[in-house]
Amino acid sequence: MEMNDVLIVGSGVAALQLATLLSCDKKVRILTKSKIRNANSYLAQGGIAAAIGLGDDPSKHYADTLEAGRFHNNDASVREVLNEAPSLIRDFFNLFDKDTNGNLHLGLEGAHSENRIVHSGGDATGKHVIEYLISNLTENIKVEENVFAYKLIVDQKQKRCIGVKTKDEDGTIRNYYANYVVLATGGCGQIYSFTSNAPTITGDGIAMAYMAGADIADMEFVQFHPTLLYKDGMTKGLISEAVRGEGAILVTEDGTPIMEGVHPLTDLAPRHVVSQTILNFIEKGHLVYLDIRNIKHFEDRFPSITAMCQNHGIDLSEGKIPIVPGSHFLMGGIKTDLIGRSSLEGLFAIGEASCTGLHGANRLASNSLLEGLYQGKKLSQFINSDSKKYTISEFPRTIETHVKKTFLPDLQILKDTMMKRVGIVRSKELLEEQKHWIKELNVNDLTSLDSYSIQDIQAIFMYINASLITEAALTRTESRGGHYRSDFPYENANWCKKIIIQNRKREVG
Ligand code: SIN
Repeated sequence: MEMNDVLIVGSGVAALQLATLLSCDKKVRILTKSKIRNANSYLAQGGIAAAIGLGDDPSKHYADTLEAGRFHNNDASVREVLNEAPSLIRDFFNLFDKDTNGNLHLGLEGAHSENRIVHSGGDATGKHVIEYLISNLTENIKVEENVFAYKLIVDQKQKRCIGVKTKDEDGTIRNYYANYVVLATGGCGQIYSFTSNAPTITGDGIAMAYMAGADIADMEFVQFHPTLLYKDGMTKGLISEAVRGEGAILVTEDGTPIMEGVHPLTDLAPRHVVSQTILNFIEKGHLVYLDIRNIKHFEDRFPSITAMCQNHGIDLSEGKIPIVPGSHFLMGGIKTDLIGRSSLEGLFAIGEASCTGLHGANRLASNSLLEGLYQGKKLSQFINSDSKKYTISEFPRTIETHVKKTFLPDLQILKDTMMKRVGIVRSKELLEEQKHWIKELNVNDLTSLDSYSIQDIQAIFMYINASLITEAALTRTESRGGHYRSDFPYENANWCKKIIIQNRKREVG
């Protein structure tokens, strides 16, 4: 039996921070369905927010986080994480870009009242933090790549999650057991046709937790980042908000600025405001660009973005980058406390897969790597000091000889319909259309995933996430942050509550 102290599914910043801070006597196993560097965190450009500048204060960061989150945030989570932010940054001080005096260079991003974004390699913060964490992995931590976790193993007598079932590329099914099972699998950005997310981000952890009966919260709140590079009808990657922080503005094809008069912060308004405005212009037949002519030495400040644009044939000397908004971050997820404990004992979630309430209805820029670092540290402290011993009885191994064929429509149809019906602007009519379409596919009624291929299980997970978002978006009859309903266009104070979804058909085994 593969027994571990801690089993971590996923390899983003939260996962690696946790692994590296666990005490060396713990047997830790990281499972990733792809390669260790294929995580969303690796793509993070902008940076990490912390109130460390002269004149800044965690209370200002707190106010900005609540304002962006439209006061749907969990107050205690916000206070705790933002107070810890300066010390978390200090742990990685050497990685961050400095000015000529050796002081941290602090960038500005949307909805921040102060320059407080630390960054690394200009616009490659995620990559540098992840590489640093990988270099700190010790011998007690075993990393297994290309192992796809698809089901939580729950001991029904103890009502406790004790492991995960996995598939390898050749279809072999294996069970891994642990005292602490941690899902750090990210959000579900790939269910939308326009997304900044890595191809691996298919909502696996959220779907697994849901199928096992854990509480899932706030799924209606999806953040659409305003500026993804747009070429040949497709999105090609993120153009960091830090670009607008350095002075770029959003314009139409004839150079007319689009954010004037929309919000006091104009181009640096909260993301949902900017994305909705861009969509409005696009629907009227305009093309929207980032005008970068104000930014001196663009290539030095944003080397990764420069390379990405050049790879896609964008001539930056013309001073404008074609953009569209796309799905970027899921504020909802597996409901946890700040330690990462879910409603199912033994199961923990950290990073974007979790919902601690820090982000409320819309995440403030650069608060996500911060949350990952915080959660990884907090959970490591909890596990390191927890002396309980758990007993685990092994479940029989299942060997499947045949592989069922998928019954689902092409994933592109899911992505396009999610973008159109459950995207930046939603309505009862569109949401009901999507709900009924997904319902007829009966993905929630599946009793066993064992005989499907990895690709098909990922597709099933994407449909499950889509159905959770659609259901929650239909239920919330107001607009707030990342959830905008054209039929209920305003915030409604009576709606300051969470939508928690629980699968009543808890799975066994
Ligand atoms: C960005 O660089 O614009 C993204 C950073 C974030 O989402 O926090």
